[in-house]
Amino acid sequence: MDSIIVTGNGPLSGTIPIAGAKNACLTLMPATLLSDEPLTLTNAPRLSDIQTMSDLLASLGAEVTALNNGRVLAMSSHHVNNIKADYDIVRKMRASILVLGPLLAREGHAVVSLPGGCAIGARPVDLHLRALEAMGAELDLRDGYVHAKAPGGLKGGRVDFPLVSVGATENAVMAATLAKGTTVLQNAAREPEIVDLVQCLRRMGAQIEGEGTETITVQGVDRLGGATHPVVTDRIELGTYMLAPVICGGTVTLKGGRRDLLAAFCEALEATGASIDQTDAGLTVSRDPNQPILPVDVTTAPFPGFPTDLQAQMMALMCIAKGTAVLEEKIFENRFMHAPELMRMGAQIDVSGGTATVTGVEKLRGAPVMATDLRASVSLILAGLAAEGQTRVNRVYHLDRGYEHLEEKLQAVGAKVERVQGE
Ligand code: EPZ
Repeated sequence: MDSIIVTGNGPLSGTIPIAGAKNACLTLMPATLLSDEPLTLTNAPRLSDIQTMSDLLASLGAEVTALNNGRVLAMSSHHVNNIKADYDIVRKMRASILVLGPLLAREGHAVVSLPGGCAIGARPVDLHLRALEAMGAELDLRDGYVHAKAPGGLKGGRVDFPLVSVGATENAVMAATLAKGTTVLQNAAREPEIVDLVQCLRRMGAQIEGEGTETITVQGVDRLGGATHPVVTDRIELGTYMLAPVICGGTVTLKGGRRDLLAAFCEALEATGASIDQTDAGLTVSRDPNQPILPVDVTTAPFPGFPTDLQAQMMALMCIAKGTAVLEEKIFENRFMHAPELMRMGAQIDVSGGTATVTGVEKLRGAPVMATDLRASVSLILAGLAAEGQTRVNRVYHLDRGYEHLEEKLQAVGAKVERVQGE
């Protein structure tokens, strides 16, 4: 397994290009199952999770061709000849559950492995199932699989989500596009990735309103056509790299960055003393290395709140703030696994349930640390950028799931980061 060696050094400067959003692409790709015409995605990120989704779609009979060095995904589901999503693929990536809604809507039945939990939590899919049942699906859970049937096709229904779920909203929206009648989703997720999915579905001929609000209404149609759609900018990659010049000092421009994708995060970052300017090129972020990093309390929430996927990265910054910051993780039950690793680097963090209290220290010290999940891994890289000496982050296959060419992007702004082949 590869490792990444980070050597703390001074202020950063330069430009980092931001790729298309992993979490948009992972819901846009299954949308190909809704139509027998080609769906082409541009600005696709080159990540191992994307390859996993490609493999899953291919196992169902869809064709996925990566063009332009993986930036374009030309897909066609003309010949869906398998309605079973096997555990051996689904267990590698939970987002595989997003083939359930489209398969059921298109084929009238689907057998999809339950994804199981992951490092950050139990990650149940009960809300996905509840939404599909509200559209008339008959579901049977046995031997670790969801056996779903909609013999006469799905019917429009009303879904009141008891809590906001990105994936359940995505599965429900996709399934509803081909249901007979109107579907209303209340307490729907409002993430930009959902807005992007709806814009793509609309290009395919879907009739949907309310994306980005808590109520989404879908008028089912008989069939969907093909489309070409650009994947929206990855706001989590954006936020991650925005933290680099703040943690090290300096000025970095994030190409393609848009403030509207991360308003709450930008407010928190400015409260630490960083400055953020929106220009045509993207977002320019800077901090004077002689200015202290101010502590800022953060509570994660569904969009438009502070993203849970940036909590670990923000904690890395708070480890060297001048004072104490309280971070509340409200979305997942076990998303502080980066804390013990940061403490190996000298951070002072007290974790109690979903609350982490971070007391900033003058300097972190480089150390060998262990990556545990995608966002925890990158928080250790960020901490290493500002630490004295070398930090070796092991098990970086977690990183490759969500960050393409991380070393090159950071090297381009002056960071000392290199990948070494694992032992
Ligand atoms: C998506 O996961 C993202 N993944 C996650 O990003 C992100 O952290 C999460 O949304 C929240 O923003 C993708 O888009 C592929 P949820 P998802 O359903 O859809 C509970 C990353 O690092 N819940 O919004 O699985 C759930 O346990 C990943 O890129 C149920 O109880 O998240 C959690 O506590 C990590 N029942 C909360 O809701 C359900 O049926 C929010 O989960 C579904 C979810």
